[in-house]
Amino acid sequence: MVNVSSESGSLESMSGGTPAYGISKAALNALTRKLADELRTEGILVNAVCPGWIATDMGGPGGDPVDQGAAGVVWAATLPDSGPTGGFFRKGEPLPW
Ligand SMILES: NC(=O)c1ccc[n+]([C@@H]2O[C@H](COP(=O)([O-])OP(=O)(O)OC[C@H]3O[C@@H](n4cnc5c(N)ncnc54)[C@H](OP(=O)(O)O)[C@@H]3O)[C@@H](O)[C@H]2O)c1
Repeated sequence: MVNVSSESGSLESMSGGTPAYGISKAALNALTRKLADELRTEGILVNAVCPGWIATDMGGPGGDPVDQGAAGVVWAATLPDSGPTGGFFRKGEPLPW
């Protein structure tokens, strides 16, 4: 399970602006931890992924191309059974909560 999150939800780097967005992503990250723990015994991996700044309708011009943002999500969606669970990642690398 991949929860598409954002570094905007990281408490460690959280700043002002877009409060509903950042707080909802922090909640999604918390849900990721809860679900990961609940589903661990069933072998279901649950992770949160920030795609990075991507040039979509929301991201606007200047961000990375969509395929680069999607790659991090696909990475998490195709983890082996032995892969991480309950993590927060961008481009396959851990992000601080
Ligand atoms: N772009 C970035 O830089 C960036 C950075 C960090 C995280 N993210 C995250 O990446 C995810 C995708 O963002 P994006 O940049 O691709 O945003 P986007 O360009 O605004 O696209 C959002 C997509 O969600 C769909 N959507 C919105 N409300 C919906 C609803 N109620 N039910 C079903 N579909 C709905 C939209 O469908 P329609 O087109 O049909 O409206 C659209 O396909 C989001 O979770 C965002 O928080 C993006």
